[in-house]
Amino acid sequence: MADVLSTLISEADLQARVDALGVQIDADYGGEELLLVGVLKGSFLFLADLSKRLGTNVSIDFVQTSSYGGGKSSSGVVQIRKDLDINIEGKNVLLVEDIVDTGLTLTHLRELLSVRKPKSLKVVSLLSKPEARVHKTQIEYVGFEIPNAFVVGYGLDYAERYRNLPYIAILQPE
Ligand code: PRP
Repeated sequence: MADVLSTLISEADLQARVDALGVQIDADYGGEELLLVGVLKGSFLFLADLSKRLGTNVSIDFVQTSSYGGGKSSSGVVQIRKDLDINIEGKNVLLVEDIVDTGLTLTHLRELLSVRKPKSLKVVSLLSKPEARVHKTQIEYVGFEIPNAFVVGYGLDYAERYRNLPYIAILQPE
């Protein structure tokens, strides 16, 4: 038996939404300098695609957190595995997430980054699962609100697999 994948968001729909987010974000920052902070690993494809649609005044850095082991449920603990390289004081920071699930990771990251005195701190998440939220947190830009199912693809994994899919799928493991 193999894992069963059913498409939730097609590649074309993803790309169209990323286009629209790029236009909106560009307009909101009005040419000001912007630091995109990707949350590894899940955001790597979204950040790559979104960054190509933004104006030229963009820098890029990454943080890596981990709250999920190899499985499907959160451990409830956020670990910082890789911190930023760039000093964000006085900068416009846009955190780039693939998904906000319980909100634990984002709550932790907002606290961690806001004490470093950025000029502004906003969040863009490709996906949001409102039904799964335990920790209330602000997300300025959301690509898609999705049901409380386990999803993979376009950066999101199950035990490190499926990150390379160009679409979002609901996974029913074997
Ligand atoms: C995922 C995702 C978010 C977080 C969301 O990362 O990329 O960062 O979980 O879940 P939460 O809202 O319940 O905190 P994960 O820790 O699985 O690491 P990965 O991106 O390397 O797969």
